[in-house]
Amino acid sequence: MSDLVDAAKKTLLDNRRSGYTLPTNNKLYPAQWNWDSAFISLGYSYFNLDYAIEELETLLKGQWDDGMVPHILFHEADDSYFPNHITWSCGKEVPSSGITQPPIAASILNIIVKNNQLNKIQNEKVFKLVCKLKKYHEWFFKNRDKNKSGLVSIIHPWESGYDNSPLWDFALSKITIDQNLSYERRDLKVSNNDERPLSKDYDCYITLLNQFKSENYNPNKLLDISMFNIIDIGFNSIFLKANKDLLELLKLYELDYSGFKEKIDKTENSILDLYNEKENMFFSFDLKNNVQIKIPSLTNFLILFADLKHDNVNAKIIKNLEEFNINEKYFFTTMNPNHNSFEEKRYWRGPIWINTNWIIYRSLINKNKNFAEKIKKNTIQLINHNNFHEYYSSKTGLPFGANNFSWTAALYLDLVLS
Ligand code: GLC
Repeated sequence: MSDLVDAAKKTLLDNRRSGYTLPTNNKLYPAQWNWDSAFISLGYSYFNLDYAIEELETLLKGQWDDGMVPHILFHEADDSYFPNHITWSCGKEVPSSGITQPPIAASILNIIVKNNQLNKIQNEKVFKLVCKLKKYHEWFFKNRDKNKSGLVSIIHPWESGYDNSPLWDFALSKITIDQNLSYERRDLKVSNNDERPLSKDYDCYITLLNQFKSENYNPNKLLDISMFNIIDIGFNSIFLKANKDLLELLKLYELDYSGFKEKIDKTENSILDLYNEKENMFFSFDLKNNVQIKIPSLTNFLILFADLKHDNVNAKIIKNLEEFNINEKYFFTTMNPNHNSFEEKRYWRGPIWINTNWIIYRSLINKNKNFAEKIKKNTIQLINHNNFHEYYSSKTGLPFGANNFSWTAALYLDLVLS
């Protein structure tokens, strides 16, 4: 096992550029991604705390003036990726995309701060990170909470981090595709077609991008005009937990936290309205089309990460989760295998991803230790047999997508060493 710990560290170091780390060493993702960096930072914290802090510093260097932290930062003018910095054509100090990703950074930072003894310089750096994260979270409340309910919208599937999840199929089917779309996908040159999103999904992704660009990414407008507007359970659960973690950090660093406790309470109350008692499941809500998204996605279970105060609801959801992958060799699949949208190989439509496993594992430590341990063991086994890949088959464990995948390596370190 220790060989693999060394290999995990090496994977991160090999993928490291100046101050940030690529998601993988192949040509698939030649830039810095928001939530990848947070997971990666946790990995570094087990062997190089300075790199861990620097990873987040570099990410937050890309923060926009209004507080938004983009989902991609293009530190190098590499146009081998699509859509690249030229397509997005935005960003401040660092060219970037014009949308965000799950804001898990505050939760990761809180773990790092709790696990480590920081020296004076590190502490000063973390203080600055906390200030920036506060601004990021305020941006969400200001610009993404249409009904002032404490729940925030995503306006592009890429913002969820689970790009082509079946959760978005209906909403995407309602989008009017740009007539003049012309683009070339680069991902298919370095990845298998049957493991990647479909072209019809890409047409929607790029149509949305073009719409946002034509509005100059003006946050005051995007929420109203976007053809995609969803209150996603997974995203809001991560956001709620991140706000709880941010509150702890604000207190620790003696920063102003007024209003945060109230905001957290509001989100917590509002998210409970999305609980469907009959199906014993939380479901996302499509604000654009005014419908509940009753799709059995693993990401609905990220509600456990939010640490809701309602022990009885948590216990019921855990029971449901125990049955989610009852017949799979490895778990957790991103979609319930009994659902007709499940695909064993295709990206976020079925395969196992280590970051969602890790989030669920972390969620269960304080709720059901045995189950948490079982998830940890199964995930470690999967990686031990198949190395650090992007995603895996639940049937065979066979790896898909990119290899030398940074967050898989980083989270392996946390699973094995924490
Ligand atoms: C894909 C994934 C996203 C990830 C990115 C870089 O777009 O869907 O979650 O952040 O690749 O790894």
